[in-house]
Amino acid sequence: MKERTIPYALPLIGDEEIKEVIDTIKSNWLSKGPKTVQFEEEFARYVGANYAVGVNSCTAGLHLAQLAVGIGQGDEVITTPYTFAATVNTILHTGATPVLVDIDYETMNIDPTKIEEKITTKTKAIIPVHFAGYPCDMKGIKEIADKYNLYVIEDAAHAVYTKYHETMIGNVGDITCFSFYATKNLVTGEGGMITTNDREIAERIRMMSLHGMSKNAWNRYSDKGSWYYEIEDAGYKYNMTDIQAAFGIVQLNKLQEFQEKRAEYAHIYNQAFRGIEGITIPYSDEIHRHAWHLYVIRIDQDKFTIDRAQFIEELGKRGVGVSVHFIPIPVHPYYKKLGYDIKHFPQSEKAYNGAISLPLYPRMSNEDVQYVVEVVKDVSNKFRR
Ligand SMILES: Cc1ncc(COP(=O)(O)O)c(C=O)c1O
Repeated sequence: MKERTIPYALPLIGDEEIKEVIDTIKSNWLSKGPKTVQFEEEFARYVGANYAVGVNSCTAGLHLAQLAVGIGQGDEVITTPYTFAATVNTILHTGATPVLVDIDYETMNIDPTKIEEKITTKTKAIIPVHFAGYPCDMKGIKEIADKYNLYVIEDAAHAVYTKYHETMIGNVGDITCFSFYATKNLVTGEGGMITTNDREIAERIRMMSLHGMSKNAWNRYSDKGSWYYEIEDAGYKYNMTDIQAAFGIVQLNKLQEFQEKRAEYAHIYNQAFRGIEGITIPYSDEIHRHAWHLYVIRIDQDKFTIDRAQFIEELGKRGVGVSVHFIPIPVHPYYKKLGYDIKHFPQSEKAYNGAISLPLYPRMSNEDVQYVVEVVKDVSNKFRR
């Protein structure tokens, strides 16, 4: 086995993105401008939604989405403990209380059969997270949401390209928030997009993403713009910039090609790891389209002489960079102080104890993927109990 170093994640940025960004800088539209509008239109078309609003992160998107449907102090919002801090922090930012519902161990997504028992008269919304790019059980979630008149706001940070049956994520729930962070499937450095089919919600989000300014105020410095604007609410500075959008337009055009590589590599991993005792491969099926944002194996620590942390260390010694998705919300000291306890979420705890995210990105070569396979096999064999 020839030694290599495989970083956990690397973006794939070509000359086209660089050229578009330079052209944008030369155009003098550095902030929100025509490129953002173009990217919003192209992204909306891509997911099949009526409206898309570009923002500076998925986090900003989740915050605005909740504000747009009136979530605030005294409300409760249901989500999963198996997520990144952003999902829960944005609920807290609105003044509402996050109510966590454990995951289904197999898919690592929120378990709809456990949602209903957590609903109270204060519940306003459910925020499912499409973990790793595999869609949540949206039928189960929407049935509950309809029964109790709740909004469904999807955290689709991992789910650009995901399909729920034949429908693109972005056109399923009431509002969907995507991330274009540096490691995501579609990259703008930092960035995000909110999609919805509801015109009023889209307009409110657009207004609140730019200080609460009246319609089209972004245009006020162009020769077609007007100096006059009105502030309609205390909004936020969450808008996307044209530099980000220029990047995003090119990345969206390349997305299909990127995704084919991700799927090809995920398939190689699946084939290689399926038969290894003590390793569970990520859930996927022929019904939905997985975006393969992450490739998370789970190791059964009883089958090895080393624990998960040591397993990661051994992979690192052989040059393979990995990560862990996620450290569940109730494990972090801040949320513990708020009263959350991982013991109430046994499936999340079990998933977390074995989870290792392997490198998976289109910039990897076939040889890189084969190398990761060999290293995982080597560590598994060497430390088998
Ligand atoms: C599930 C989930 N939600 C939200 C976010 C936040 O995305 P952003 O960095 O674009 O704000 C992330 C980021 O990694 C994430 O993994």
